[in-house]
Amino acid sequence: MNLDQEDLEKETDPFFHIDGIVKWVRIVFIIILISPFVLYFTAKIDIEKQEKIVEISAESLIENGIDLESGLIVDEGYEVVRGTCGACHSLSLVTQNSATREGWKDVIVWMQKTQKLWDLGESEVVILDYLEKNYAPKEQGRRASLKNIEWYEL
Ligand code: HEC
Repeated sequence: MNLDQEDLEKETDPFFHIDGIVKWVRIVFIIILISPFVLYFTAKIDIEKQEKIVEISAESLIENGIDLESGLIVDEGYEVVRGTCGACHSLSLVTQNSATREGWKDVIVWMQKTQKLWDLGESEVVILDYLEKNYAPKEQGRRASLKNIEWYEL
């Protein structure tokens, strides 16, 4: 078979261009294969950016030593208190109360007995330290501090 004959065959062969189509099918296939990864990574970058924004705004929400979102005094362990004690109810229940360390401990025990509060483990000390320091009974409070309270079942 000489060259001329080969060329002639190619031009008359209806499937001559199939090679080109196969090439494009391959390219499209590769794009389809890669796109989920591209989408995944761009989405990941987006999420990371959003997390940064949340962090920044959370930091800027502190004014005069008060975390504006929760109303808690910003002090050692306040994130633990915010995370733990805000899980079931408003943190205003914390900020509007004051008690001795024992008083706070009683509240926790009461919630554990009657309100399904879980064992606080190591965070209990952190929480009590924080509450004792920042939400201690005020000398001339508007309201008597929590003392010898008979906790009722709801
Ligand atoms: C498992 C859910 C849950 C968690 C977590 C929780 N509490 Fe409570 N707490 C309750 C419920 C339920 C009540 C009573 C319902 C109400 O008054 O809204 C309550 C009531 C209170 C009260 C008011 C008590 C009263 O009636 O005078 C205080 C103070 C309080 N919680 C403090 C805390 C502190 C501090 C923490 C973190 C250590 C905490 N809570 C975590 C469920 C929880």
